Amino acid sequence: MRIRVIGVPMDLGADRRGVDIGPSAIRYAGLSEHLRRLGYTVNDIGNVHVPQPESRPVGNTQLKYLEPIVQVSEELAQLVTEALQANEFPLILGGDHSIALGSISGVARVHQPLGVIWVDAHTDFNTGETTPSGNIHGMILAALAGLGDGRLVEVGGWSPKLNTSDIVIVGARDIDPGEQNLLRNNHIHVFTMSDIDERGISEIMHQAVAIAGRDNHPVHLSLDLDALDPREAPGVGTAVRGGLSYREAHLVMEMVASTHQLVSMDVVEVNAILDRENATARLAVELVLSALGKKIL
Ligand code: ARG
Ligand code: MN
Ligand code: MN
Ligand code: MN
Repeated sequence: MRIRVIGVPMDLGADRRGVDIGPSAIRYAGLSEHLRRLGYTVNDIGNVHVPQPESRPVGNTQLKYLEPIVQVSEELAQLVTEALQANEFPLILGGDHSIALGSISGVARVHQPLGVIWVDAHTDFNTGETTPSGNIHGMILAALAGLGDGRLVEVGGWSPKLNTSDIVIVGARDIDPGEQNLLRNNHIHVFTMSDIDERGISEIMHQAVAIAGRDNHPVHLSLDLDALDPREAPGVGTAVRGGLSYREAHLVMEMVASTHQLVSMDVVEVNAILDRENATARLAVELVLSALGKKIL
């Protein structure tokens, strides 16, 4: 199997600069070598061009940097579609979580319906109306489900990319008030950290893969490193205490791998400036390997 690595040095969707060097940090942590050792052929096509925030106006403060984010998303969607058409597994390196708008749009053009497992401390289900920050990385899952500003929703020229019933969020523990209403009204499956505490990550993931992978649907995995506890993943811009442990996160990945339905993945929010000796990027590599089939024995 061939993996096509696509870097997206995007930090227009988040407040903290430093996620833009995430793709380099993850590569520097040995991503390609480790994937090859696992038996994959790796085709790293480099980075998508992302404008510097200093060179662009912020624009609407409820939807900061909307225009350049839409531009990058269109380009990324095209690259991801091309990877799938060439029979390569797209592995997209962020960058902030706004890159999932392009990546998932590109996958959804090929695989319909598409299940999504969104592993995150946040639910990223705000719109321009509910956002407390104006940061677009907090609105991406809603946009993919067809909610929010038309320019986000219409990336790729059609909408919605995802049925609400095919979305599963795992690890959530920081949800804004307006977001909560949207999640409820749209019946999104959210497994919070409380659910995981109560029932255990194994049971939760059995349910999560059953929902997202229903009827043998292809599944996309979107891994936001802030899903992990900040003790494991200090290099993220929006850290929230009480996250997934190291072992829990690996089990999430392993249980996704065991479905054999995974068709694409993104790894986002690695902030190399806030990181400690690249620990978060190294963890990201380990988790990618587990998601792609690495087993202890
Ligand atoms: N809910 C907050 C907001 O919308 C934080 C979102 C964090 N998202 C992320 N992908 N790290 O601003
Ligand atoms: Mn996120
Ligand atoms: Mn997050
Ligand atoms: Mn089907």
